[in-house]
Amino acid sequence: MSRILITSALPYINGVKHLGNLAGSMLPADVWARFKRAQGHDVLYICATDEHGTPAELAAAAAGQDVKTYCDEQHEVQRRAGADFNLSYDWFGRSSSPQNRRLTQHFARVLEDNGFIEERVDRMIYSVDDGRFLPDRYVEGTCPHCGHVGARGDQCDSCGRLLDPTDLIEPYSAVSGSRNLEVRDTRHLYLLQTKLADDIRAWVDSKADWQPLAKAIANKHLDEGLIDRGITRDLKWGVPVVGPDGGPRPGLEGKVFYVWFDAPIEYIAATEEWAEATGASWRDWWRTDEGADQVRYVQFMGKDNVAFHTVSFPATIIGSGEPWKTVDQLKAFNWLNWYGGKFSTSQKRGVFMDQALEVAPADVWRWHLTAYGPEHSDAAFTWEQFQSTTNKDLADVLGNFVNRIVKFTESKFDGVVPEGGEPGPLEAALQADIRAGIAEAKAQFEAMEFRKACQALRAVWVRGNEYLQEAAPWTALKTDREAAAVGVRTGLNLVALFARLAAPVMPETAARIAATVGAEDLSWPEAGAVSLDALPKGQTVSAPSVLFAKIEDAQVAEWAERFGGA
Ligand code: 2FM
Ligand code: ZN
Repeated sequence: MSRILITSALPYINGVKHLGNLAGSMLPADVWARFKRAQGHDVLYICATDEHGTPAELAAAAAGQDVKTYCDEQHEVQRRAGADFNLSYDWFGRSSSPQNRRLTQHFARVLEDNGFIEERVDRMIYSVDDGRFLPDRYVEGTCPHCGHVGARGDQCDSCGRLLDPTDLIEPYSAVSGSRNLEVRDTRHLYLLQTKLADDIRAWVDSKADWQPLAKAIANKHLDEGLIDRGITRDLKWGVPVVGPDGGPRPGLEGKVFYVWFDAPIEYIAATEEWAEATGASWRDWWRTDEGADQVRYVQFMGKDNVAFHTVSFPATIIGSGEPWKTVDQLKAFNWLNWYGGKFSTSQKRGVFMDQALEVAPADVWRWHLTAYGPEHSDAAFTWEQFQSTTNKDLADVLGNFVNRIVKFTESKFDGVVPEGGEPGPLEAALQADIRAGIAEAKAQFEAMEFRKACQALRAVWVRGNEYLQEAAPWTALKTDREAAAVGVRTGLNLVALFARLAAPVMPETAARIAATVGAEDLSWPEAGAVSLDALPKGQTVSAPSVLFAKIEDAQVAEWAERFGGA
């Protein structure tokens, strides 16, 4: 048994997340956490809302609320949306927590003590009409790298480059639209990433297990050359910059840390929140001198977040000189597109987590977004494809198998696992194939190849259906009740096994499937030990109500109309 720490990128507080956010970080992290728990490992899965910075302030202003009230409400909304999708966080924290405030201020202090932070007078964009400086997303304009119009001051959504607001061509205020902007002097703290570049590169080179996309993005940023980054902002909401006595810091009064400085620190602070709430220890998950050297740490995120996790956050950690646990494996996802365009929270385009559950149950979404997610390239979401995968994979293959064999048992074998007969060559061949299929699914899950893992699961379900066709207990029953009993018993054992295999991706349905044959075990099966004659004979079975409802063309038309799209 090993100890595995999992984090998924912290969702911004600005509203319920869309399916692209879910598919690109929280859901695969959850599937993997469930897979690892099902193998018996000690898993800690941490997430939180990312509550600071311009996204929070702008969204609160748009909602006409003060930022704290807005964050309190939206945290609860997101917590509930996650629970409704069965995201099995051990803790869903808040980056505005006192723990994160303390830890962020701690990192800033030690970085400065180590010579990696200095005060600089900065030239920042000031909006005369708004009477304030315009950090990050408060200013928009044209990307100097790719010409994208409407790029945000911190990052271009089109080419993915990190930006500084002063880089933007033809900038305007995101608050008022005003172009009456000036560049004024203001004092800020800078993280001297240039001094840390060699250490960061050596650290990246030492990470043999990162997937290629993550390595490539990290190396691209290192090759382009790191720059010293301003890590404070002229905002009211955030972790305040303090002096050595904990009071306001002379010359930097009223400034807060940049959201991307404190957000990843919340991975640690949220673990502290969890530990305080549960009486557990957080240090043996994060301090390598206190046991965390035995922990395997895996991060899940969308590709736009990779630079922050492979370069910026490591600069904080490495520069502290303290023995913090760093990421061992990093799984990055591409974009889920919405009919050729992008999902967008700020522009409310696409399907959002709460609306999605009005359309189909969580497990149906979980399957679709895991099996056909944006893993190695961008993936296009369409209602037609959602219909097709739901009807084929789930209703026709898995659901139909369970229904057919359990209903047959009810009608012809008194609703119990039948006795009699001996497994023969058909069952031996089936067992060999099923064992190989489970080994394949396991290997793909271990490698975090989610689409391939789901293909392997589907292949196992298909093999089960083929077996039922061959064994045909409904035909055998007419001439040889013992032979029919073997077919039925093997089929019911497959049901119990399919539930265990489905559990990481579809936990609710897996429990329902297991219950149809009176089973409860949802641990991951050890391929070599799988038996297709393990259910107690005489055990009662009972057919489920519909496991997966087929999606009709009329529904597709209705949803396309309701959500827009093509
Ligand atoms: O891109 C985002 O949605 C960010 N809120 C992710 C933050 S991840 C972490 F570092 F906090
Ligand atoms: Zn660009």
